[in-house]
Amino acid sequence: MKIISENELLEAAICLRNGGLVAFPTETVYGLGANALNPIAVAGIFNAKKRPNFDPLIVHISDLSQIEALFAHPINEAVYKLAEQFWPGPLTIVHRKSALVPSIVTSDLDAVAVRMPSHPIAQKLIHQSGVPVAAPSANRFGQLSPTSYKHVAKQNMEIDYLIKGDELTKAVGIESTVVAIENRTCTVLRPGVITAEDIEKCIPDFEVLTPIKNIKLVSPGLLQSHYSPLKPLYYLNDNTVVSEFAGVILHKKEHGKKYSDKTIFTSETGNLLEVAANLFSSLHLMEEDDAVKAIYIAKTTEKGIGRAIMDRLNKATFQYQK
Ligand code: TXA
Ligand code: MG
Repeated sequence: MKIISENELLEAAICLRNGGLVAFPTETVYGLGANALNPIAVAGIFNAKKRPNFDPLIVHISDLSQIEALFAHPINEAVYKLAEQFWPGPLTIVHRKSALVPSIVTSDLDAVAVRMPSHPIAQKLIHQSGVPVAAPSANRFGQLSPTSYKHVAKQNMEIDYLIKGDELTKAVGIESTVVAIENRTCTVLRPGVITAEDIEKCIPDFEVLTPIKNIKLVSPGLLQSHYSPLKPLYYLNDNTVVSEFAGVILHKKEHGKKYSDKTIFTSETGNLLEVAANLFSSLHLMEEDDAVKAIYIAKTTEKGIGRAIMDRLNKATFQYQK
């Protein structure tokens, strides 16, 4: 694996186009990219992540016109409305696919997920590669999502290039909102910082569904256990007794009664955008600290962006919930 900086981007873009694997920063989390039109390259992603192949991938674009070739026609008008308001940015749109999209990208589903990231390095890389880029988060299956190139490097995956570009990566910090468009409905498959309410305002003529709990579709964001650090992670309750070997993650300083010398605050004020931006990086810090044997994390509200944060935390703590 070659770790490069932004000024060597073209080298990575050419590799990507020719079937290589490139990890790149986005405004949500790092992605592990392959040429979406090359099924063998895409198979390499599943192999590097040890990801089961029933989990479909998001295709990343740098120009709106690329949806014309990826989505089946007629393209639902909601796609254009959502794209106009939220792209480039942390929204992924699932829509019936064209014949151009290989079935390995969508795990044989007849719809494909597409997103236009806003991170300048992601945009430049996709543009220079000249192809749509299939990319899941650049972590081994089930583990913490990466928000720094260092988080990707420690996963020891077999990839060709890893692009540095941490400065903007934490702008959002958690994965994009995923919505599926069909006829007059828009289903929120994965919550993110763009909320169901934001979507409703953008396409008021569509029915917006949020059936997170009973969705039958199998996909990583929807599995019960996911995004887990390599040590036990528990919720912090009022009566939790924290051992001296535990790390604590809180989301607001003023209520931060001191539980442990190893306490990290995702936000000083409880600002949920800040909490999201720092969520995975705080978990990575705790994971990397050998003195920390277990992690306790506070809950947030389930409203608005809190819904997306609690979705990640419920999955990350799932295997340790009683
Ligand atoms: O912010 C993000 O979305 C990041 C960056 C790299 O763009 N990517 C990411 O990818 O989180 P991944 O593979 O970790 O999550 C992809 C999500 C899954 O929840 C999957 O179920 C959903 O997108 N998805 C992808 N294709 C789909 C499809 N055809 N139908 C339904 N859901 C799909
Ligand atoms: Mg992921």
